[in-house]
Amino acid sequence: MIRDLTGKRAILTGASGGIGRAVATALVKAGARVILASRSAEKLNELASALKATGGDVLAVPTDVTKPDDRQRLIANCVSAFGGLDLLVNNAGVGSWGHFADSTEAICRTVMEVNFFAPIELTRLAVPHLTRGNQPAVVNVTSMCGRKGMPAWPEYSASKFALVGISEAWRAEFARFAVDVLTIVPGMTNSGFEKNWLRNDGKADLRFADGMTPEYLAAEIVDAVRTNRMETVCGSEAKRLLRFNRYFPRLTNWLLARKVKKLYS
Ligand SMILES: NC(=O)c1ccc[n+]([C@@H]2O[C@H](COP(=O)([O-])OP(=O)(O)OC[C@H]3O[C@@H](n4cnc5c(N)ncnc54)[C@H](OP(=O)(O)O)[C@@H]3O)[C@@H](O)[C@H]2O)c1
Repeated sequence: MIRDLTGKRAILTGASGGIGRAVATALVKAGARVILASRSAEKLNELASALKATGGDVLAVPTDVTKPDDRQRLIANCVSAFGGLDLLVNNAGVGSWGHFADSTEAICRTVMEVNFFAPIELTRLAVPHLTRGNQPAVVNVTSMCGRKGMPAWPEYSASKFALVGISEAWRAEFARFAVDVLTIVPGMTNSGFEKNWLRNDGKADLRFADGMTPEYLAAEIVDAVRTNRMETVCGSEAKRLLRFNRYFPRLTNWLLARKVKKLYS
């Protein structure tokens, strides 16, 4: 199936961030009408103005995805502005980089709220509208940590595994509504993600600057939506790590443990 994005009515969360901004731009370029959602009204309005200047049909709806009332308002805004919903892109997310033993319950709960409970509850509200949509789909932006739990990313890995898992379950469930579920599994992206982490005291030498550009990832996401690809792993190191782990899981774990012991010795 090829999905034509022209005129598609979309909600994109995390639109103010590095990846979200690039996805918003790519969706508009592909002809979609987009509701831009995240907490920062200023950044959203600035993005909306830039996209409108290129002829884009967009609306900024400041939203904290963890708040039930905000989620209701977001869906209602989309339905009243565009008359329905065809595409929900759950992209908003937060990271926390550091080991579990000296992390906190508050960090764990925040990561799970933003990365798991918020997108699934937003999807619950979106389904009745998607069901009446045109080639409808839910797109969940997860992470390579959602396919391989990584040291110093314990809460984040758990939240993204949960999102990957529910996406798989939804795929068959939502088939009865003819709503597709697409999972994006990105590796490191040079988006500024690390500036917003809840915690930043992991020890490995992470080089986000060497990661994919948000524009590259956005093009992959739009391509996945167009071609209705069920799961898309993006980025060379994510592809390498997940392939290696599939064939050599014990060796992968041993290498990761060796690295941790060395870093913390
Ligand atoms: N960068 C990477 O290397 C990488 C790799 C794999 C996966 N990802 C995933 O890609 C997605 C986008 O990340 P990014 O790299 O673009 O990071 P980012 O620049 O930190 O952007 C995160 C976005 O999420 C929004 N957000 C955070 N908490 C929110 C809340 N409670 N309500 C509404 N919006 C909220 C932020 O906007 P406000 O602050 O304005 O609310 C921002 O727009 C995330 O799900 C992330 O886990 C990133």
